[in-house]
Amino acid sequence: MRVHVVDHPLIAHKLTYLRDKRTDSPTFRRLAEELVTLLAYEATREVRVEPFDIETPVAPTCGIKLATPKPLIVPILRAGLGMLEGMVRLLPTAEVGFLGMVRDEETLEVSAYANRLPDDLSGRQCFIVDPMLATGHTLVMAIDYLVGLGARDITAVCLLGAPEGIDHLQAHLADVEPPVTLVLGAIDEKLNDQGYIVPGLGDAGDRLYGVV
Ligand code: URA
Repeated sequence: MRVHVVDHPLIAHKLTYLRDKRTDSPTFRRLAEELVTLLAYEATREVRVEPFDIETPVAPTCGIKLATPKPLIVPILRAGLGMLEGMVRLLPTAEVGFLGMVRDEETLEVSAYANRLPDDLSGRQCFIVDPMLATGHTLVMAIDYLVGLGARDITAVCLLGAPEGIDHLQAHLADVEPPVTLVLGAIDEKLNDQGYIVPGLGDAGDRLYGVV
């Protein structure tokens, strides 16, 4: 697995406000969206392109455009939805699939409860978005799921990660070829006993959408 922590003062600035417990939901949503767009810039560095002939007002030239098949963005429900707009803004031709995963708050076990994905992902570049890489169980399960559908080119984009989650991914995805790419805004200190990232930002889903 290749891990990129995007080191940029604008990301650090926005993450600070995102972490602050005084930040309200509308501001949190806006910041999450802006952050994803900045992370998506890095995450799409190797997005597939193809040559594209055009004419400028001055002369013919050959540029590039995003290749087909279109990239697929997969937000992990529910918190991943808060990252979708920012990703689509940078990849407007991408298609979107959904994967619903939930974590048992006591056992921290993860299970899938919904899936809306194409049956065949071979040849598709997939971008999984989920704000918090905590234990890493959700992301491993999501990646396994996409690999099972034929995906071979997978990038995961997270706002924050815990070292424990990154280690879990490294251990479970060592054999995935080509390696999965993980793009993060920051790596925090640790997980606490409840599985929250420390210092983190709390429950991303609750902060995006309110407690349900
Ligand atoms: N999920 C969250 O929303 N926050 C954490 O800190 C860990 C998992």
